Amino acid sequence: MADLEGIKVAHNYYKDVPFANNQPFYVKGANHLDWGMKKHLSNIFDENSGNTVMFAFDHGYFMGSAAGLERLDLVVPKLLPNIDVLMGTRGALRSCVPAQGRKGIALRVTSGSSMLDEDLSHEVLAVDIEDVIRMNADCMAIQTFIGAEGQLSSLDNLSKAVNLGVRYSIPTMGVVAVGKQMERTDRFFKLATRIVAELGANIIKTYYCENFEEVVSACPVPIVVAGGKKLPEKEALELAYQSISQGARGVDMGRNIFQSENPVEMSAAVRKIVHEGFTDKEAYEFYQDMIHQ
Ligand code: 5RP
Repeated sequence: MADLEGIKVAHNYYKDVPFANNQPFYVKGANHLDWGMKKHLSNIFDENSGNTVMFAFDHGYFMGSAAGLERLDLVVPKLLPNIDVLMGTRGALRSCVPAQGRKGIALRVTSGSSMLDEDLSHEVLAVDIEDVIRMNADCMAIQTFIGAEGQLSSLDNLSKAVNLGVRYSIPTMGVVAVGKQMERTDRFFKLATRIVAELGANIIKTYYCENFEEVVSACPVPIVVAGGKKLPEKEALELAYQSISQGARGVDMGRNIFQSENPVEMSAAVRKIVHEGFTDKEAYEFYQDMIHQ
């Protein structure tokens, strides 16, 4: 409470000035959400570009120590200057990632499969909302398996997370999985992204595909594109550029950053595309200039 010395009498009411805080919120489909949800979304999507660079290192939840992630404690900290959001498991964050810093947190909250499984589509909602809150998560990442055996249980996980997220004002990110029987076509991604958005996800993570602009148009919330398997840096930057230029509001890259020969430089080049309007060619030149300095 302020002290009572030097109190001035209020007198300037700007009676002719309209109320200022009446602009639509800049994240797609979020206008009717409450303040807390919007605050979390603003920790994910940059207000100027509207976009985000998520660094995904949650692979261990079913892959164990993936190549390039053998030492999370060494990999993650050096990338922090170039990323906006850390996408990881609670185990990885708590054990290996410094708590200080203002990065958004996309918390992987489903689990239950491993690389030993024939069918990876059976997961549970593993992290309870109290621990999501403890982790200060800005969104909960839920794997969804449209068209797979685990479709029903994955959409049940998603719905449970959305219910809890609405109750505690924490956004949900639906992750659209692709697998053996799920074709990487715009037909599949239009179906999957729209189902996940209709069930209440506030963000969708999926893959780039042909006619991606139509996938974006049909989805009422922002889409973030997963990097997928490791590509040559030039091709990965082209993927990032195609995604952003066709309406993705960010990328969620893992392997194309942590399996690069130069993860720090690669993440910086991706950032140029996502936030500074670089083309893939400009970003690749930037990348090469950095590694040949
Ligand atoms: C791993 C994931 C990753 O978050 C997602 O696939 C992005 O990582 P990458 O760019 O390596 O595909 O869901 O389980």
